Amino acid sequence: MMIRIRTAEPSDAGPIAEMHVATWRIAYAGILPDDVLLGLTPGAEQRNWARIIATIDHEFTVHVAEAANGELLAYGSAGPVRPNGLPLSGEVYTLYVSPDHQGQGLGRELLFSMFARLQAQGFGSAMLWVLAANPARFFYHAMGGAVAAERRESHFGVALDEVAYAWPDLAKVCRQFDMTYQGRAGGYQ
Ligand SMILES: CC(C)(COP(=O)(O)OP(=O)(O)OC[C@H]1O[C@@H](n2cnc3c(N)ncnc32)[C@H](O)[C@@H]1OP(=O)(O)O)[C@@H](O)C(=O)NCCC(=O)NCCS
Repeated sequence: MMIRIRTAEPSDAGPIAEMHVATWRIAYAGILPDDVLLGLTPGAEQRNWARIIATIDHEFTVHVAEAANGELLAYGSAGPVRPNGLPLSGEVYTLYVSPDHQGQGLGRELLFSMFARLQAQGFGSAMLWVLAANPARFFYHAMGGAVAAERRESHFGVALDEVAYAWPDLAKVCRQFDMTYQGRAGGYQ
């Protein structure tokens, strides 16, 4: 399948919102309150994502994976780290692959496209927070991330354990990725 990773555009807010609702209901069932998950609506999320896409700048980005027919299959966002005491400069805020398209390498493509973007903008390192109860956390281990911290955060009124995964040397990570995926070096906006 031909996939293009690119920076999100305003017209992507609708498809990103659909993926957001679908992936959250699957990933967080039994973790976040049912009424929160049932209350998600593509309309409200579309407005939210339109606002988020409008803030893309030289530091913050939203990336999407697009199939040849124009369908969006995954999305993620990254930018400066939200202060957390760790000596790391970049952060991946979100990364979700559409349920029907997981396990096909899109998560890795998108994660490394965001690492490459962060590195190109001068962020030498990166981290992300993932819920400890989310089995997706082991994807980040598979992507070379090391557990750097743990914390308890309140989400929608529920205290949940989170784990931070860190990549202290993005230059090295990007070099290794480029060696594996030749031709992609510098291809991300
Ligand atoms: C987690 C997620 C982003 C991974 O993306 P993906 O496209 O399914 O994963 P990929 O196909 O790129 O996987 C790349 C490698 O990681 C491995 N992997 C994927 N998910 C994994 C998991 N949960 N645990 C361990 N390894 C995993 C794959 O086996 C693959 O290994 P390989 O290189 O040996 O073949 C995606 O499955 C997803 O969106 N899940 C649900 C939503 C979610 O919880 N997102 C994270 C919120 S922070």
